[in-house]
Amino acid sequence: MEASLPYLVPLFLIPLSLYLFSSLRKKGSDDLKNLPPGSKGWPMVGENMEFALLGPQKFVKDRMSKYSPEVFQTSLLGEKMAIFCGAQGNKFLFTNENKLLTSWWPQSMKKALLFPEFIESDLKEVSALKRSFHHDILKPEALKQYIPVMDELARDHLDNEWKANSVVKVLPTSKKYTFDLACRLFLSVVDPMHIKKLSDPFTLVTNGMFSVPIDLPGTAYNGAIKGGKMVRGELMRIIKERREELRGKHEGEERDLLSKMLLVTDEDGKFLSEMEISNNIIGLLVASFETTSSALTLCFETEQMAIAETKGCDELLTWEDIEKMKYSWNVARESLRLTPPAQGAFRETTTDFTYAGFTIPKGWKTFWTVHSSHKNPKYFPEPEKFDPSRFEGSGPAPYTFVPFGGGPRMCPGKEYARLEVLVFMHNVVRRFKMEKAIPNEKMVFYASPTPVHGLPVHLRPHKN
Ligand code: HEM
Repeated sequence: MEASLPYLVPLFLIPLSLYLFSSLRKKGSDDLKNLPPGSKGWPMVGENMEFALLGPQKFVKDRMSKYSPEVFQTSLLGEKMAIFCGAQGNKFLFTNENKLLTSWWPQSMKKALLFPEFIESDLKEVSALKRSFHHDILKPEALKQYIPVMDELARDHLDNEWKANSVVKVLPTSKKYTFDLACRLFLSVVDPMHIKKLSDPFTLVTNGMFSVPIDLPGTAYNGAIKGGKMVRGELMRIIKERREELRGKHEGEERDLLSKMLLVTDEDGKFLSEMEISNNIIGLLVASFETTSSALTLCFETEQMAIAETKGCDELLTWEDIEKMKYSWNVARESLRLTPPAQGAFRETTTDFTYAGFTIPKGWKTFWTVHSSHKNPKYFPEPEKFDPSRFEGSGPAPYTFVPFGGGPRMCPGKEYARLEVLVFMHNVVRRFKMEKAIPNEKMVFYASPTPVHGLPVHLRPHKN
């Protein structure tokens, strides 16, 4: 996969003086420890440039063979970082959550997403929700009621965006479907003009939040900060309006995630403030949007669309129908293995500890990496081959297939994503045969893997 050159341009704006200044840095106390092998890269920029040029998969693969297949050090986003590799690395990080490690987001991302008041706060304060909240609202029983809504929206979407065209671009249309669905299910916002008021600035956020954090006019990062401010403004308006509506009525009003957030209390029994609710909604939008639209797109990228579907035309899908879609889900999982939307996740160490004989100092950041196990022939023979049958029977070994992470911080939206992908795939294959318009379309890496031309496909509607 190729990397994203547009993201590199701002790097060259970093003045030489910064380089000279930082090259005078003194050796820190960490340098005396038995640190993992690796390179800190250039002063200030670290290895960001290499990461952007090579893309996450090749960046990690090259360093695993050069330094260590277990753990190596680098410097990314201005932080000293240990990259943990393979199933053992995943297992170590997933099982030591809250013991040796805690969650961490890059400061640049917090600046784009959060109100200035929260940028220095820890993530627990930012969310203010009990840990179990996301799992409660996104568990299968709670999601069952959403299936007919997802189905109806998928049908409308295919009628409006796909039906009249002989060629469609899967990526932008998947993004539209994913965002429209989130607006409906999270906020009950359905009016297209209103959705656009959120989606336009939100696109600026997702396009820029992982770019080089240089806040100058014209940079992607500057766009993300401006977009974040607009999204927060609009969300605050929606939240205030809903709080007003709900005043005095505490029962029977849990129609979407927003009303659930308005009615839930924090650890101290207090209702969440409007800003805290906005932080949570933005968190959910960010966590779900790029990942799920990328997953949807990549299922179609694999050209494995010969999925047998049985449902009659006019009935809306139910939970039982979804449970029968075993082969479709194996197709989706194999796509998630080959081209995972999320590349891994960061943590911060809360104490010095030893891993694979190396010291990982307190305060360092860590990253687990999805490709280092997904593409390992030991766990997945012929790893580049598309083969959904890998997921039959007992499936992959523990800690080897990790598109949603693992341990206590495993993605709580996994089931929501599964439903959304299956419902959409079902609707597409029921109505169309597809063929990729550009057979070997290149992939680049922005916030998630992205086909450069948006994955255009030729559509042929089924006869009946
Ligand atoms: C195919 C789609 C998706 C993929 C591949 C994905 C992947 C991930 C990954 C890798 C993490 C980080 C786990 C870690 O920190 O170790 C994560 C976290 C998270 N995801 Fe997802 N995700 C997807 C869809 C969703 C959806 C649809 C939602 C919400 C509706 C969601 C909500 C979240 C939240 C709230 C977290 C943070 C959990 C925490 O820190 O405790 N995700 N996801």
